[in-house]
Amino acid sequence: MSHADDTAGTRRDFLFYATAGGGAVAAGAAVWPLVNQMNPSADVRALASIPVDVSGVSEGSQMTVQWLGKPVFIRHRTQEEIEAGRQVDVSDLIDPQARNENIQDGADAIDENRTLDEEGKWLVMMGVCTHLGCVPIGEGAGDFDGWFCPCHGSHYDTAGRIRRGPAPENLPVPVAAFEDDTTIRLG
Ligand code: FES
Repeated sequence: MSHADDTAGTRRDFLFYATAGGGAVAAGAAVWPLVNQMNPSADVRALASIPVDVSGVSEGSQMTVQWLGKPVFIRHRTQEEIEAGRQVDVSDLIDPQARNENIQDGADAIDENRTLDEEGKWLVMMGVCTHLGCVPIGEGAGDFDGWFCPCHGSHYDTAGRIRRGPAPENLPVPVAAFEDDTTIRLG
């Protein structure tokens, strides 16, 4: 083998390995946001704390805001949605945990533990399916009149709890609180 052939072979090998290595890095980069999207660190959250004016969100409607690069659903629930949510027995749930950052870890997923106010009118959730991260469709969608993720068919109820399909967890409720009658602060 001539010196020139030898060099070409080495370059081909190098390109092959560089490409394979690049693929591995890209796959790792794609997975990272999925793993971390539910858990922005405390300092990131503090920096990104935002007020949201919800005065225009009438009963039975919702708004979506972008927060920390992710959609957040803010829904003003109807009385029917509240009652449907409150009738559900925790033992019927796929994920029995509240997944609400505003209350203690491990609290159960009764409807009251998912909403922002005691009456249960306001529901704030990350709009990111807990299966593989698609954005579910809302406005009374799916078999449980809540949200539906069309990517692989996950159905969430009127409290954003997973009820059917491959998603393993309820939609996470981020840190949020009413600042005044018409303003919700995220983070
Ligand atoms: S990403 Fe929602 S069901 Fe798979």
